Amino acid sequence: MSRFVAHRSEPPNANRCERFLSRSPQATRAYARRLAERARSGTVFALCGDLGSGKTCFAQGMALALGVEQPVTSPTFSLVREYAGTHGQFIHGDLYRLREAADDDTLDWDAYLEPKGLAAFEWADRSPDLFPPDTVWVRLETLDHPSVRRIRVGNKRVAF
Ligand SMILES: Nc1ncnc2c1ncn2[C@@H]1O[C@H](COP(=O)(O)OP(=O)(O)O)[C@@H](O)[C@H]1O
Ligand SMILES: [Mg+2]
Repeated sequence: MSRFVAHRSEPPNANRCERFLSRSPQATRAYARRLAERARSGTVFALCGDLGSGKTCFAQGMALALGVEQPVTSPTFSLVREYAGTHGQFIHGDLYRLREAADDDTLDWDAYLEPKGLAAFEWADRSPDLFPPDTVWVRLETLDHPSVRRIRVGNKRVAF
């Protein structure tokens, strides 16, 4: 049985929405890690939120679930990075510079959107139509306190 088959609760792309109030970067990473552990292999996470909202932090938590040992940093300058974790592949992309991403023939979007593990794309709402229907949409928001983030997870972009 795959490590990613749901064992404690429904996978995050089940038909529902959940919320989490994070009070620290560690809490955001731990929450993302738990979600990633519940996700089926092949699941794509679409991360949305302003600069500094915690998208990269969330991706770091996902990478932990996959046993990625290298540090996961913002892929802004490489657009997409692939990590070979001990529990599966982790694809980490950034669509901030969407035009460059679309024009770059070296990027294999078909493979990125069917990862042998999990994928996370920052600035996903720049190209919502790119994503398959069972994508897990994650919206991160900074609230009044500088270390608090509201995280909403749903299976539709409009479900927030
Ligand atoms: N609860 C929190 N969750 C995530 N990041 C937080 C939180 N509180 C403070 N931060 C800080 O916010 C910043 C988030 O940065 P980052 O994950 O790179 O955001 P993004 O990729 O969305 O631009 C980091 O400096 C992190 O330390
Ligand atoms: Mg980032």
